Amino acid sequence: MSTMTVAPASQEDSLGATNQQKVLAMIDDLIAQLPNPERMTAEQRRGIIARYTAVLEGNFIYWMTATNLAVKADEARPIIIENLYEEVRDSHPVMLRKFAIAAHAFPTDKDALAIDTDLTKVRRFLGKLQGVPSLLTMAFFESFIQRFMSYLAALAAAQGSSEMEYTDVHGVCDIAHSEGLFRAVNLEMSRYPVSPDTDLFEGVILLRNLIQTIIQEPTQRLAA
Ligand SMILES: [Fe+2]
Repeated sequence: MSTMTVAPASQEDSLGATNQQKVLAMIDDLIAQLPNPERMTAEQRRGIIARYTAVLEGNFIYWMTATNLAVKADEARPIIIENLYEEVRDSHPVMLRKFAIAAHAFPTDKDALAIDTDLTKVRRFLGKLQGVPSLLTMAFFESFIQRFMSYLAALAAAQGSSEMEYTDVHGVCDIAHSEGLFRAVNLEMSRYPVSPDTDLFEGVILLRNLIQTIIQEPTQRLAA
């Protein structure tokens, strides 16, 4: 990842920096919405861990793979592959499952269905296989996950769990991953500029909605 030598053109570079700032501001908003674990019921804490697990366990590697299929720039692909390599070699889904079970928050059918509508929209979006918007969505995802880890760990601790391998690993390694993905966005954009009518943030918005469903009471959304 550190051997990249191709610098993007300056116009794409500054556009990339603007996109990154926008994404990071959206993450700040999400983090600011997080309810205080100490003022939540055990069921509310369990619900967040369970819905997070229902989304991440089976989809993170799938979505990163979809992004790899969508990306055309040869320089961008190794960044995604390295991420996937770590996910598979260290079996991050195993870590997440252990984390959820230890917190007594393994997802039920209700948890899986609470996130179903928003999850389907993100799956359909990534199925369009658009390089830059897909990469931007995954850069947003990685950056969010890294910021979210200490909160997720606090929820699990409040549920009486001390199984923290998942949150320990992701609070650290995703810093490099999210920076790499923002670099991949710039590389892809410089090689294959997007058409002016492309909505760069379509996937980011859909994923943000999904994350909001994870962190909010799903009954509020189902009733709406
Ligand atoms: Fe991971």
